[in-house]
Amino acid sequence: MKKNIIRILALTIILAVTVTACTKPEDGITDIHEDDGLIVVGFSQVGSESSWRVAHSESIKDSLSEENGYRLIFDDAKQKQENQYKAIRRFIQQGVDYIVLAPITETGWDDVIREARYAGIPVIIVDRQVSVDDKNIYNSWVGSDFMAEGTRAMEWLEQELCDQQREEEEIRILHLQGTPGATAQLMRTGELEKAVEAHENWTLVGTLEGEYTEAKSYELTKEFLTKDTDIDVVYCENDNMAFGVMRALDDFSIPYGSKNGGVIIISFDAVKSALEACYEGKIDLCVECNPLHGPLVDNIIKQLNSGQYPAKMKYIQESLFSYREITREIIDARKY
Ligand code: AHR
Repeated sequence: MKKNIIRILALTIILAVTVTACTKPEDGITDIHEDDGLIVVGFSQVGSESSWRVAHSESIKDSLSEENGYRLIFDDAKQKQENQYKAIRRFIQQGVDYIVLAPITETGWDDVIREARYAGIPVIIVDRQVSVDDKNIYNSWVGSDFMAEGTRAMEWLEQELCDQQREEEEIRILHLQGTPGATAQLMRTGELEKAVEAHENWTLVGTLEGEYTEAKSYELTKEFLTKDTDIDVVYCENDNMAFGVMRALDDFSIPYGSKNGGVIIISFDAVKSALEACYEGKIDLCVECNPLHGPLVDNIIKQLNSGQYPAKMKYIQESLFSYREITREIIDARKY
């Protein structure tokens, strides 16, 4: 009996290895190692859900370009973790030199990253973090301090309500939440919830899962407003969700932006169009989330390539812009 179980297990493992080895790469790239000295990088990107994400992809593509010594294999996972698994396994099969992963959520990465590790391929995590049992299975992480972003937003709101002499008023907050389980969501939501806890007069009137997209946020906010329009603040976990909220508020002729005596809108990312909206007084606060990871990833790869040990964690520099201080120069300087 015991022998049979061992035999079945062995057969299953052999079959699994054979199936993996025989799977044809979907991107059709079989021979990635031409004799041209380029460093081959497989990049598994979350998707293209937001303007931030598009800028992020561009930054990686610009830095890991052929002129800069790279062959980049880019994979868009369309917001699905199983697509990221497939992409990473394909990169392993193709024998890339490095894998760069922008994980959709924090969990579920132990096996696939370990597989890359066993194949001897260094893994660099960008943007959101991964929660794995053994942090040694990946080399470095580069991204935002999402918790600090949330803290900054809440400190600003507290001060702004004081400046508006509304610190004693009941403040009703609507929350547009990003992809559940993504570091950006966990941290930004966490800071909001802590602040609501700490202020007796602040109430969370609803949390809507806007998936970081304008379309979903528009749809959900509209639905919400049919039942409740008594809102003082909307906390949007990215700019595209803020754009969706603004469209929904327009539909209900609800004014927004403190300059207009309307609902206070707080947003994360600070892409150019959001900064424009801030300048026009439609968004009150843009908390910056910097997508320009490309040069940092390039630097990490160059360090690894020359046998150095890059820092395990690297936070990118970020700021915030409110309707009170935003200037034309800030907007003009924004490239994305
Ligand atoms: O993980 C970063 C977040 O993901 C950005 O705030 C958002 O726009 C993106 O989709």
